[in-house]
Amino acid sequence: MILKRLKDETRSAHLATEQQLDLLNQMPTKLEYARLLGRFWGFYVPIESKINQVVGLDELPLNLSARQKKKLLWLDLTDLDWNESTIEALPLCTDLPTLDSVPQALGCLYVLEGATLGGQMISRHLQERIGITPEHGGRFFSSYGQEVGSMWKAFGETVTAYSESPEIEDAIVRSAIETFAAFGHWFQGQSQH
Ligand code: HEM
Repeated sequence: MILKRLKDETRSAHLATEQQLDLLNQMPTKLEYARLLGRFWGFYVPIESKINQVVGLDELPLNLSARQKKKLLWLDLTDLDWNESTIEALPLCTDLPTLDSVPQALGCLYVLEGATLGGQMISRHLQERIGITPEHGGRFFSSYGQEVGSMWKAFGETVTAYSESPEIEDAIVRSAIETFAAFGHWFQGQSQH
């Protein structure tokens, strides 16, 4: 079953990501938090644009436009007093996973959608520690709010229905692993301060 494979085969990559971001043990300042969001912007903007170009993806019931995080990041950065030209000047990641097919896009989306689950913990942490709320500065990590569970379930159902052969499953899993790796490189390559 594809969802179990994805979870099992990306388990160590997820752990490495959690450790790399180390968000729950830290109390960032608002400035550090905004810089972190700026790095997320640099990853999500080009990757979402690539996902939007994948031929055939729009035929699946994914509700892609509702899942895109670019607008949430933009609003958060604006709340944190970043102006348009600063946001537009942020570096964008070019070392992205290959997204030439629907299975590759689904593997990549698995990683981005899964991040909304951990995002719920991060969202609560930010609210308690530095007063960032889902309404002000915290839209990205809060993402779909009350709908996170149902959005995740719907995504899982679409991926499962699409995974009709071991070859398709392999391509989805490979892309998820590649996406975690690209994410890790991008966050490593950026200076935190
Ligand atoms: C400090 C940061 C993070 C923490 C604490 C965290 C925590 C979690 C937790 C608790 C879950 C399970 C939620 C559940 O089963 O209800 C989860 C799932 C997941 N997270 Fe994270 N996460 C973090 C960052 C990320 C990031 C940055 C990504 C992607 C780049 C990511 C990708 C995923 C994926 C794909 C799943 C789904 C696993 C599955 O197949 O069930 N996480 N995360």
